[in-house]
Amino acid sequence: MSAKVMIPEKVMILDPSEQLRPEAAFAKKPLKAFRDYSIDPNDPIKERVRQTYTQMHTHMTMDFVKQQHKKWCGFNTFKATVMDVIKQLDNLVDESDPDVDVPNIMHSFQTAERIRQEHPDKEWFQLTGLIHDIGKVMAFYNEPQWAVVGDTFPVGCAWADSIVYRDTSFEQNSDGKNPLYSSKYGIYKPNCGLENVIMSWGHDEYLYRQMKHNHASLPEEAFYMIRFHSFYPWHSGGDYMHLCNEKDLEMLPWVLEFNKYDLYTKSEEFPDVEALTPYYQKLIDKYMPGALSW
Ligand SMILES: [Fe+2]
Ligand SMILES: [Fe+2]
Repeated sequence: MSAKVMIPEKVMILDPSEQLRPEAAFAKKPLKAFRDYSIDPNDPIKERVRQTYTQMHTHMTMDFVKQQHKKWCGFNTFKATVMDVIKQLDNLVDESDPDVDVPNIMHSFQTAERIRQEHPDKEWFQLTGLIHDIGKVMAFYNEPQWAVVGDTFPVGCAWADSIVYRDTSFEQNSDGKNPLYSSKYGIYKPNCGLENVIMSWGHDEYLYRQMKHNHASLPEEAFYMIRFHSFYPWHSGGDYMHLCNEKDLEMLPWVLEFNKYDLYTKSEEFPDVEALTPYYQKLIDKYMPGALSW
């Protein structure tokens, strides 16, 4: 019988870039320069980011999330291979991201290639890096970016302090008027486990469910990375530990390991997508072959 793991109420991590610093030697700009959410009305990228989050935090209610589950989780919107969707992301720039102003396909290959350099033996991890953002394909099917991109957070309980723009962006969100939804545990039981928590709707949750639906044969660590890579208030902010169970804490180091490559490769030079495609096609054929349902 395994010893019971004590789950801390809140893990204090004041600066996520500080925490990840020693291992992210490959970053091409100072680590503190990533994820800068300071407000500057004269800076067009900062304003674009802030406005995307204001829209998200205004409209992301429990009702909205349930409606998105109905809309997307029948997986009858279209059929496409993983590589088709990756190529489609050549036309998408994530409006929530202060660090990327290039098409998402570049970010996919940058992330995958860095993982490949540091984990040459873990094909599943490399593929996870390549595909982690392809749920953003929803943006091509009439979803506004605020319902696709950006950091995620649980609905049905209080919004944590570490959510970006927490103090200024939720004022119009109707869940804030619901006493249950704005209490600490909300609709959840203590340490119920993140798999029982309803997350804000975005590309993480969509791709996670899509992969389960299509029977992707990746390990559990990969599913955690996909589902929670944008859950910064948890993996880097140290919040929502009161909802986590032992499995979540076991998986957290993997999510952080992934996060290092997701975040700190964003300043790198562009990879040669065409030359790299055959290598990654083999990985797709192994774990997520053929035309999938989306
Ligand atoms: Fe992402
Ligand atoms: Fe990403």
